[in-house]
Amino acid sequence: MPRAMSHTVSVVFEGRNRSPVKILLSTDPFPDTGVSGRLMGTYQLSLIALIQLLRSVRSRSMAVIPDQKVATAVSNADAPWDEFDSQWYADHNYGEIHPDDHAVISRVGRFFATRAIGRKRHAIDVGSGTNLYPALAMLPVAESITLWEYSASNVRWLEHGVRPYGQLWDPFWEALRESAPMYRRFQRPRAVLPAIAKVEKASVFALPEGLWDLGTMFFVAESITGIPTEFELATRNFLTSLRPGAPFAAAFIRNSRGYHVRDLRFPAVAVTEYEVRRVLRPYADELTVEHVAPGQAFRDGWDGMVLALGSRNRRPRP
Ligand SMILES: C[S@@+](CC[C@H](N)C(=O)[O-])C[C@H]1O[C@@H](n2cnc3c(N)ncnc32)[C@H](O)[C@@H]1O
Repeated sequence: MPRAMSHTVSVVFEGRNRSPVKILLSTDPFPDTGVSGRLMGTYQLSLIALIQLLRSVRSRSMAVIPDQKVATAVSNADAPWDEFDSQWYADHNYGEIHPDDHAVISRVGRFFATRAIGRKRHAIDVGSGTNLYPALAMLPVAESITLWEYSASNVRWLEHGVRPYGQLWDPFWEALRESAPMYRRFQRPRAVLPAIAKVEKASVFALPEGLWDLGTMFFVAESITGIPTEFELATRNFLTSLRPGAPFAAAFIRNSRGYHVRDLRFPAVAVTEYEVRRVLRPYADELTVEHVAPGQAFRDGWDGMVLALGSRNRRPRP
């Protein structure tokens, strides 16, 4: 039976706590609510008209959906990456070692110490920003470490930041030393990192396939876009940039709705263990995905981290 053409319109206004609220008006029932709309030709609404409308028709004919996508539906290309305040971000997030980072570092250290032994590897850290602990975690088992970063300011920071790295990173190295003997045996990390690290200014969306034998990506795929399909593509690209068998560690901010770096707002996709597992599973072997619970609320909208560990399988990039 041919269906009548449906009409849907969405209106966004600022709700309580200045959070955006999206109102959908439709001639069809809304799939989530079953509420049907009977409004036609209401494509332009002032806020006052909208309130009157809400009062008059109430839930009979519309669904009011607080929509985080409205706040964060900024694509990767839309965000001001070149104005990312690198030093502010480094001081704010890594000025001291937080319990969550400590927990993640310990797990990653133990994982690489058991899974990345035997030979030196070509390693990559995607979206390094101003975080050197993923690179430090790979240092004892790496022949080279590529720091794949997109933002001009972070690239500048990295070029100086690793040569040699500052004392800020000593507690992070100490956490790695506590995690496994491999780190305790490793001599002169401050001299070795600059010798083997190279900074590439490039996007996660331009990663070549199957090139690296070891990889990390920390707080990138979900924290560079508000669009879920871009989060999925970035996660998949990271994994498929690795060779079959390559161990990896990937960390994600859980349930993030965006964040500030100084006074600039950056987008995020709210993910949990479920989305991370769903995107990684087709390309990973021996995958573990866990919630590292929140300690201190020092990052915006903090709900802990999701940590994924595993190794790349043989399935090709789609
Ligand atoms: C939330 S920060 C995470 C930085 C760092 N990895 C950490 O653990 O704190 C997101 C990083 O992704 C970088 N980024 C943004 N878009 C990117 C892209 N298309 N490709 C690669 N990196 C990107 C940003 O410049 C920033 O360094």
